[in-house]
Amino acid sequence: MRIVLLGAPGAGKGTQCKRIIDKYGLVHLSSGDILRNERAAGTELGKKAESYMNSGALVPDELIVEMMTEAIGKVPAAGFVLDGFPRTVNQARQLDKSLALIGKRIDAVLNLKVQEQVVTKRITGRRSCPKCGAIYHIENLKPKTEGICDNDGAALIQRQDDRLEVVANRMDNYHLQTEPVVNYYKTNFSDGAFYDVDADKDANQVSVAVFEKLDAVAKV
Ligand code: AP5
Repeated sequence: MRIVLLGAPGAGKGTQCKRIIDKYGLVHLSSGDILRNERAAGTELGKKAESYMNSGALVPDELIVEMMTEAIGKVPAAGFVLDGFPRTVNQARQLDKSLALIGKRIDAVLNLKVQEQVVTKRITGRRSCPKCGAIYHIENLKPKTEGICDNDGAALIQRQDDRLEVVANRMDNYHLQTEPVVNYYKTNFSDGAFYDVDADKDANQVSVAVFEKLDAVAKV
């Protein structure tokens, strides 16, 4: 299966993707995680992306499309779930084009819908493991020991762009540049492979709704 997960910053894309890959054996391709790894490794791409990310702006399309096309090219046959990409209509078109070149297309698009005041609380309370990428929340999804990753004992960190002053800019850019991607897929996936999911609910309830849709897609 080839899946795209859409949603505002903090909608729960990363949280749901980790559960999707466990259930369906897909590869999780998060553009944000790949960029953060590039930054940590001090690569040219990481250096170019840093200032955009820290201010909550989008990294230029040409850098992202090249990075994600390369990552998708390495995925085995079982397929992938895309998280954070595509984020502009131009990125969505480029993705469709590069899949068409190898006779493939996206099988399903899930749009996690969440209210703005909910995402702000989720983002500012998020803590991440710098080692394995596990995601926690100081109220909703606590680790067993405060500030420590359950998987590997690493000290949890707060992302630079999860500070309140950056969140507003990320939301503005979401409305301006990424919401049109929802309409792009709604129009191009009018055959039924586009699904809205109520993501205001707790993470387990959201997973039930997500799995219900993906089970139906997997059967086709
Ligand atoms: P990226 O890393 O993609 O960030 P984002 O899209 O802003 O999404 P988040 O990672 O903030 O949220 P999420 O939806 O994954 O939520 P999560 O599951 O963690 O991008 C970062 C930056 O990189 C961008 O700003 C940009 O600069 C650059 N970039 C990346 N891709 C790009 C692209 N394609 N083009 C250009 N630039 C790009 O959940 C959030 C919190 O809520 C967690 O603490 C979690 O525990 C909690 N939570 C999750 N679900 C629930 C629930 N149902 N109930 C309660 N709590 C929940």
